[in-house]
Amino acid sequence: MTPTGTDTTGPTFVAERAAVQQALDAFCARWLGDIAPLTAEAIRYSLLGEGKRLRAILLLEAYRACGGTGDARDLAAAVEVVHAYSLVHDDLPCMDDDDVRRGRPTVHRVYGVPVATAAGLAMVPLAARSAWHASRAMGLSDAIAGDIVRDLMDAAGAGGMIGGQLLDLEAEGVPLTLEALERVHRLKTGALIMASVTLGARAALAPASRRHALERYGASIGLAFQIADDVLDITATTDELGKTAGRDIALHKSTYPALLGVDGAIERAVALVDDGCRALSDEGLLTPTLDRVARYIVERRS
Ligand code: IPE
Ligand code: IPE
Ligand code: MG
Ligand code: MG
Ligand code: MG
Repeated sequence: MTPTGTDTTGPTFVAERAAVQQALDAFCARWLGDIAPLTAEAIRYSLLGEGKRLRAILLLEAYRACGGTGDARDLAAAVEVVHAYSLVHDDLPCMDDDDVRRGRPTVHRVYGVPVATAAGLAMVPLAARSAWHASRAMGLSDAIAGDIVRDLMDAAGAGGMIGGQLLDLEAEGVPLTLEALERVHRLKTGALIMASVTLGARAALAPASRRHALERYGASIGLAFQIADDVLDITATTDELGKTAGRDIALHKSTYPALLGVDGAIERAVALVDDGCRALSDEGLLTPTLDRVARYIVERRS
């Protein structure tokens, strides 16, 4: 994202990405059997493309930072299922009408709008069920598993991602103030990123003080993530992004670079990453990986 920015941290996450990929394969094997075959195929297609798996990596790292020693991969996969659903619907003609995602045709371009819509809708309850199952398999109590599913669904719902997506669509062609745009970004993208780390804390049975520090970290880097996405939309190529560059301008979206300029937007994103990392270091929770993931959010090229 910086003018000379290269993704020097990317390769470090190769092992983590492979682990998440395996968990997503296991999710498909376990949960797609009872679904109409074409819908199941569309879900598999949406999940098994080349994603960065950042939300899952964040959950796993927050879990370890809070002292978790179990296997949180299936829980991390559940967060990626919610994220992948959000992309399937975000790309639909009634939303951002995009043809390319993760370097391939979007789900509705391959399977048609009705199947893509159904696939996305089916993924939400499956994510909830698999989060519950994964939590119980980790030996967590019904109460903690319930907290985890509730937090995940809250982040995905009208008070989180979907609420933000609706505000984002309503704002097309309507220039927003910085304050209003921040709210859209915190909801549509920040909420799920924040939940990724707080779910890790819940699964590790971390005390509230640690969970709140992770909440501050997640909220800051979550907003930074969407600012970086806005910047990349105009500074990166379709090839680099694996999705159509320049889409925000074509759709008359309000974005951070439109309001602050590219440099101003990058400065804001870097400041947020610093704030987020500080919230963790104040609690003695800033592991090298949580620091690296936060930096990667503003340095990435895709
Ligand atoms: C894209 O998210 C959608 C936004 C919230 C900006 P990612 O950039 O994490 O997409 P993948 O998972 O790596 O494809
Ligand atoms: C999407 O924001 C946020 C979601 C919740 C999916 P964008 O619409 O900017 O995401 P991209 O650029 O299409 O990945
Ligand atoms: Mg969108
Ligand atoms: Mg979009
Ligand atoms: Mg975007």
